[in-house]
Amino acid sequence: MTFVLTPDAPIGVFDSGLGGLSVLREIERQLPAERIHYVADTANVPYGDKPIEVVRALALKLTDYLIESGAKIVIMASGTSTAAGLTAAIQKYPLTDIIGTIDSGARTAVHASPGDIGVVATNATARSLAFTRAVNAIDPERRVVEQGAPRFVPLVESGLTECAEAVDASLEYLRPLARAGVRVIILGCTHFPFLDAALTQAARDLNFQPLFVDPAAETVRDVKAILDRKSLLRDPQLPHTPVRFDATGDPEDFGRQASVLLKRDAGVVNLLRLDD
Ligand code: DGL
Repeated sequence: MTFVLTPDAPIGVFDSGLGGLSVLREIERQLPAERIHYVADTANVPYGDKPIEVVRALALKLTDYLIESGAKIVIMASGTSTAAGLTAAIQKYPLTDIIGTIDSGARTAVHASPGDIGVVATNATARSLAFTRAVNAIDPERRVVEQGAPRFVPLVESGLTECAEAVDASLEYLRPLARAGVRVIILGCTHFPFLDAALTQAARDLNFQPLFVDPAAETVRDVKAILDRKSLLRDPQLPHTPVRFDATGDPEDFGRQASVLLKRDAGVVNLLRLDD
């Protein structure tokens, strides 16, 4: 099916679960008039422990669904999906704008400080070295140290963002980056900004003062620039419409957890069954 895109079409956003809400809240801040269609693939979370080809197939399936549902742009609000599937999605849909969080995160970090850059990300993203390539495409001399952080996503998905275990996991993942002397740390998985309190506490315990970079703000600036260029920004005078949420796992559970992270009622969440 082909759609004629209009400004009233939604921005499509997906993640394996709650992490993409760190991008969604930034869309709501920068582009409050926009309609948003958010898909949480909670039946398959976490992505970060899966082989890259499996994540690529999931990312393509969610991209297909959002485009078929009429999204005017698709945001892979997931570092892992971006690392595994962005190139394939752009090849599949050359006429649709599809963007991820890796180039924007790398750009923010490079401009934030001249020092070495650390990345905390899922194991799949860290192993792919996608952030290293993105940083070095801007600044070939810049040293990048990537750290897999597999304990984080399950903590965020369980609502355990501020417990002792979150601080303990933060200590485990920040210690090697402190030793490596990085000055900036990219939160390379969209779940991780929700652990800011634990990360800040752990950094303080390690007497380490990195600048944490959340790629969301720059990602949404990119989206705004693309939509503006194409005259696809929604008229700010139009009435606000609630986010359309779909989840492939338990919709009520997702709605409950999303409401906590968004600090407001997430509203109705639909159960989405995607065919194999
Ligand atoms: N939030 C996603 C990311 O940015 C996926 C994390 C996961 O499911 O492991 O990497």
